[in-house]
Amino acid sequence: MEIRFYLNGKETVVNAPPERLLVDVLREDLHLTGTKRGCGEGECGTCTVLLNDKAVHSCMTMIAQVNGHRVITSEGVESDPRIAPIVPAFVNNMAIQCGYCTPGMVMSAAGLLLNNPDPTEDEIRTAISGNICRCSCYEQILRAIQQAAHDMKEAAK
Ligand code: FES
Ligand code: FES
Repeated sequence: MEIRFYLNGKETVVNAPPERLLVDVLREDLHLTGTKRGCGEGECGTCTVLLNDKAVHSCMTMIAQVNGHRVITSEGVESDPRIAPIVPAFVNNMAIQCGYCTPGMVMSAAGLLLNNPDPTEDEIRTAISGNICRCSCYEQILRAIQQAAHDMKEAAK
């Protein structure tokens, strides 16, 4: 099946069986390896991407579901001015240790902040509750997302 979608702002066409998983198309066909395949069962969040600005697990998303839609992966964050401040906020708050969870955490943060620019601490914790950080950087990640929210509001002024 031919699938046409916007990936990190560019029109992209792939040929794949409709049930092939988005995470596999991204990593294996398009060589975008920022999106990780952890559990493969919707439990760890390492595969999180944005589908029409909402965070989804790409290991639970069939490629046919993105036909005609917009997908943003971690590779597309720095070139998207709406969400670019998230990456420096993670670095400045030392919210990265081994980095394995980071792309998924950044995408969950992006999905939250695009839809709720002024989240409470509880809303941030809920937004990343599906992302596991084995290094337990949760407090630094919380502060990074708070800083990103602040910086994104300043940038929008
Ligand atoms: S790999 Fe998708 S949630 Fe774990
Ligand atoms: S920084 Fe290592 S898993 Fe989160």
